[in-house]
Amino acid sequence: MKLKIAVLPGDGIGPEITQQSVKVLKAVADRFDHLFQFEDALVGAAAIDLLDNPLPEATLELCKKSDAVLFGAIGHPKYDNNPDAKVRPEQGLLQLRKGLGLFANIRPVKAYDKLIEQSPLKADRIAGADMVIYRELTGGIYFGDKFTAEDGQSATDVCTYSVEEISRVAHLAFKAAEKRSKKLTLVDKANVLETSRLWRKTVTAIGKEYPEVELDFLFVDNAAMQMILNPTQFDVILTENMFGDILSDEASVIGGSIGLLASASVGNENAMFEPIHGSYPQATGKGIANPVASILSAAMLLEHFGLIEEAEAVKKAVELSIKLNVCTIDINKDNHYTTEKVGDFLEGLISEVDNISIN
Ligand code: IPM
Ligand code: MN
Repeated sequence: MKLKIAVLPGDGIGPEITQQSVKVLKAVADRFDHLFQFEDALVGAAAIDLLDNPLPEATLELCKKSDAVLFGAIGHPKYDNNPDAKVRPEQGLLQLRKGLGLFANIRPVKAYDKLIEQSPLKADRIAGADMVIYRELTGGIYFGDKFTAEDGQSATDVCTYSVEEISRVAHLAFKAAEKRSKKLTLVDKANVLETSRLWRKTVTAIGKEYPEVELDFLFVDNAAMQMILNPTQFDVILTENMFGDILSDEASVIGGSIGLLASASVGNENAMFEPIHGSYPQATGKGIANPVASILSAAMLLEHFGLIEEAEAVKKAVELSIKLNVCTIDINKDNHYTTEKVGDFLEGLISEVDNISIN
């Protein structure tokens, strides 16, 4: 298969981790006889520094004409504590999601056996946890009108959802549930928010088209608690933009490190693959960032194009690396490997992973 992949390394640890996933994708192309073409483009603080624009036109154009986008990370501390900044790196990511129509963000979370003891949560609670969060990505409070009153004494963020916006991500979530354990949990705040009531009504109606899927509802405050009290109860979680952002960071504790969590952001025409972690500025250039979230995002890219055997090879290589402790410091405290060494190890495994048994 021939794929044109736009690579947007972004800020902080973004460049060093995407470098590893590109390496792994190249190894996949070699082994399975594909042609993957990579082209880099600027986004985030890196783009503001050079062009005063977090999402240059050329970057958006490249992404639109590519088959997929591999995204690194975004954000820089110089903007975080400056509430008056007019342009922010994060706008680049938000405009990219909107511009590419990426309305569904899919975030799988599972507990790796080897890492169960690493999680601050009790092992017997998280053993067997395996869920996927479907986060709506181009609506809600992230994209509503926002403004600060002229006197600076109040500020407003508007949260709006349409039936259309809810429906398209809901259908994807139901389809995923049909293929998994057939359970879908809608997380909302329908006891307070009008938008949440529209979510419940719309999702309940759509649920009739998926009779095999058991649908239940949780308020987001309770869901946040259930996520760590009893995570194995979840299969597919469907939720709006901001709740999904928050819950997926929380869910990363189950996996043992946020450095392991991958995501796919999909729409009708485009798809982007991005780790759920941020730009981790303190770690930039130190070789301590975990490249696995980016590498597993690359595996989701392969899956997206139906390259299942290829994706399995990448996932199996990751499992093996965890088993063998070839891991960065977030997971392997005593004898850790650098970002690049983990990348090298995984790259090297792609050609032989089928001959290795994991147990
Ligand atoms: C994420 C990030 C982004 C978000 C930020 C960087 C804008 O936290 O992808 O989860 O809030 O969506
Ligand atoms: Mn987030």
